[in-house]
Amino acid sequence: MVYRPRRLRATPRMRRLVAENRLHAAELVLPLFVKEGLTKPAPITSMPGQVQHTLGTLRDTVAAAARAGLGGVMLFGIPAVRDAVGSQGEAPDGILQRGIAVARAAVAEVEAETGRPGPVVMADTCLDEFTDHGHCGVLTADGEVDNDATLDRYAAMAVAQARAGAEVVAPSGMMDGQVAVIRDALDDAGFTGVSILAYSAKYASPFYGPFREAVDSALQGDRRTYQMDAANLREGLREADLDLAEGADIVMVKPAGSYLDVLHAVAERSDVPVAAYQVSGEYAMIEAAAAHGWIDRKASVLESVTSIKRAGADIVLTYWALEIAEWIK
Ligand code: PBG
Repeated sequence: MVYRPRRLRATPRMRRLVAENRLHAAELVLPLFVKEGLTKPAPITSMPGQVQHTLGTLRDTVAAAARAGLGGVMLFGIPAVRDAVGSQGEAPDGILQRGIAVARAAVAEVEAETGRPGPVVMADTCLDEFTDHGHCGVLTADGEVDNDATLDRYAAMAVAQARAGAEVVAPSGMMDGQVAVIRDALDDAGFTGVSILAYSAKYASPFYGPFREAVDSALQGDRRTYQMDAANLREGLREADLDLAEGADIVMVKPAGSYLDVLHAVAERSDVPVAAYQVSGEYAMIEAAAAHGWIDRKASVLESVTSIKRAGADIVLTYWALEIAEWIK
């Protein structure tokens, strides 16, 4: 026998040497929830270990992310008051804008202390946390999600986020034309340097279930008229192409684990960085099985994220970002 592939698997040191992919803290992005009016962090039952933050604990967690060398933080806001058009999403003192400012200050503080770059501050640009009906856009009189009327709201929201200090805005509503409109609005407002991370191939998925609890979602029904059908690969590539043509700086595939084929195909054709979002349900499944003792938690987490990277992600959004950074230090 000439070929014995097992030689390269024989010892931990050999396996380490030949690993084709390895994780770095700098490519991980930690999603964080900040809720208006909280006095102490509120645990999210369906996402054990994750919480809705106060502005104070958000600050501390972003500082921890900076010390851990994470690549970014992705902020979501939960307002005290919701309305039909999601006004708090674009209010200068809206909770997400305040969270962005707090996060930027925390990053600056730790950077000054350590002399190393902190996480890029990103914000989710979408209406679902801010509308009383829970949809990602404004509705027509018949209750349909109105694509073009929603674009104006996204543009205003992106500018408000940029004003608050967001370095990356991340439109996640799957409205047609959202990247182009946001790019125009940012440029007109003088924010030519703010990047757009586009949730390009975003599928309608039950794996967002725990997220609904995380943001106290009011949604009745589903998002299938705007998020994509799990059956479709080609359509996901078309979405990514459109976002690239509209000026996306980074494109994303979401969820990650069930869409590694889409991720791989997008990574092959994209000449900008490709991100993948390991979503709340992916997190919850591993946590739940591990809590029962049915799977090894750490090994499962590392395998799931390594696989997302192997499929082609340059950047991974994962709720385990801080813990992984600790493990791989
Ligand atoms: C929309 C948004 C959602 C998630 C990220 N951005 C919810 C949705 O589209 O229904 C889900 C993230 C997760 O499940 O971890 N603002």
